[in-house]
Amino acid sequence: MSDTAKFWDKIADRYSKKPISDEQGYEKKLEVTRKYFTPDSNVLEFGCGTGSTAILHAPYVKQILATDLSPRMIEIARERAADAQATNASFDVASIESLDASAGSFDVVLGLSILHLLEDWESAIEKIFGLLKPGGVFVSSTVCLGDNMRWFRFVGPIGRALGLMPLVQIFRKSELEEGLKNAGFRIEYDWQQNARVAFFVARKPG
Ligand SMILES: C[S@@+](CC[C@H](N)C(=O)[O-])C[C@H]1O[C@@H](n2cnc3c(N)ncnc32)[C@H](O)[C@@H]1O
Repeated sequence: MSDTAKFWDKIADRYSKKPISDEQGYEKKLEVTRKYFTPDSNVLEFGCGTGSTAILHAPYVKQILATDLSPRMIEIARERAADAQATNASFDVASIESLDASAGSFDVVLGLSILHLLEDWESAIEKIFGLLKPGGVFVSSTVCLGDNMRWFRFVGPIGRALGLMPLVQIFRKSELEEGLKNAGFRIEYDWQQNARVAFFVARKPG
């Protein structure tokens, strides 16, 4: 198992009990995301954690595949989905880098609180572009520390060396927007949730 998977496995049980920090913001993102769903939507959520968002969205779509590189996160997500009887939600252990899915197979891809945690977020965006059907949308919510918290680049590596933090990439919201556009997306919805979090809905042209 990779060090990243081990890190997330170790904190999965604690993560699953953590309350949502901005309930109103979370609800708004659920609501905006659902505008892009139809009852026929085939949805992918990568880096799904313990599956709570995928389970909440499941009643609004045909099927949702939720993936995460941490086996423990996925174990908890499967238990939660069984409790919620979310039979159209399935959960797989896979990193976004290794995810093996057919090109052009999803109507909507969700990447929530994950892009800033990847070694190569630009390649991940390109992969997502390929996984979407023409006209499909990528919904992302991303911590962009490059705008207000550049000092984090001194603290992050220490936290990581101590095993207290995962890899956290530091980039600006404008760089993320540029990355989405460079991959071929058109930005359709743009919301700055707070000083750190940028929420985008980006469409692959039809
Ligand atoms: C901050 S949590 C976010 C979880 C969930 N999306 C949420 O919004 O609560 C980040 C998640 O991404 C997963 N993760 C980290 N690197 C990943 C990668 N390369 N591919 C897939 N999942 C990854 C972690 O295991 C963790 O569950």
